[in-house]
Amino acid sequence: SLPVPSVQEIVRNDPKFVPERYIQDHKNRPVLDSTTFGSDSSDIPVIDFSLLISGDEDELNKLDFACKEWGFFQIINHGVAVMVLSKMKAAVAAFFDLPLEEKKKYSMAENDLQGYGQAYVVSEQQKLDWGDLFFLITCPLEDRNMKYLPTTLPGFREAVEEYSRELQRVNEEIMAKLSLLMGMEEDGLKKLHVVMKQSMRMNYYPPCSKPDLVLGVSPHSDGGSLTILLQADEITGLQIKYKEGWLPVKPIPNALVVNVGDVIEAWSNGMYKSIEHRAITNASNARMSIATFVIPDVGIEIGPVESMMQDRSRRYKDIKYLDYIKHVLDRKMDGKAHTSFLK
Ligand code: SIN
Ligand code: FE2
Repeated sequence: SLPVPSVQEIVRNDPKFVPERYIQDHKNRPVLDSTTFGSDSSDIPVIDFSLLISGDEDELNKLDFACKEWGFFQIINHGVAVMVLSKMKAAVAAFFDLPLEEKKKYSMAENDLQGYGQAYVVSEQQKLDWGDLFFLITCPLEDRNMKYLPTTLPGFREAVEEYSRELQRVNEEIMAKLSLLMGMEEDGLKKLHVVMKQSMRMNYYPPCSKPDLVLGVSPHSDGGSLTILLQADEITGLQIKYKEGWLPVKPIPNALVVNVGDVIEAWSNGMYKSIEHRAITNASNARMSIATFVIPDVGIEIGPVESMMQDRSRRYKDIKYLDYIKHVLDRKMDGKAHTSFLK
């Protein structure tokens, strides 16, 4: 059974009802602030992926700048066919559209990250996020657990397979360029992962009658190496920490949002930043997003690579990735976990 109720179900039963457990403390409420210090969404870098992989110097510099100054960027011309994107969006929409009883067949088991439910619920007191999720491990192939792939939804499995394959390609190209920028051979980051794992978190945020009191996803930084996000509709919800405020990442149709995770921050000795972000809701529309995480093998150490400690002294300890992940999962997502491992 679900550890916490389905938010979608709460809204289905009563669109006006917002239970106490979802109401954020004052300081965490998503005041729709304009205190973004003269910046807006359009300042977040947009990288032309096809130029980048063709070896264009300007685009490579832009990638470097984006990862240093923003930790977030959007990619266009990434070569993932619109058809592949739309099939994936349709598959996720169809999943969440299933009756609760049907979705419950895919509920997360205790001590399993995969399945339908809610992540990071560690205590009865904790504030809950206004969203439901479906989490799948997609690569390597032997880590896939077919029991989580809904058989009654025609096309779901294929859509995930195609999308997963395409995103692995995009990920590997970005990793190759980041490797060069970090003073390694093109396959440097790939080798550091030992096994490049991939997982997907499909998010469904129902509309909320009190969007100024709840959060779709609480502030956190991503614990993997890289995240590639598909904002499934033209609805803005993702916000990144920027100076003292929150800056929305406005969806560009068919673009993908990429962000640096904690592992690349550590490997790069802090040159590239894993930025805190959150998702907000709105009163009129449900919103969906699909986050694809790249994750290294749990057995590796995630300290800074040699080439990043030549001009700057070491800023992060070496720590086993498994211990890091345990630490992230044992606490409620609450800002950056990684600061605990600053040297
Ligand atoms: C997340 O970063 O966990 C979700 C972001 C989103 O829904 O846009
Ligand atoms: Fe995230």
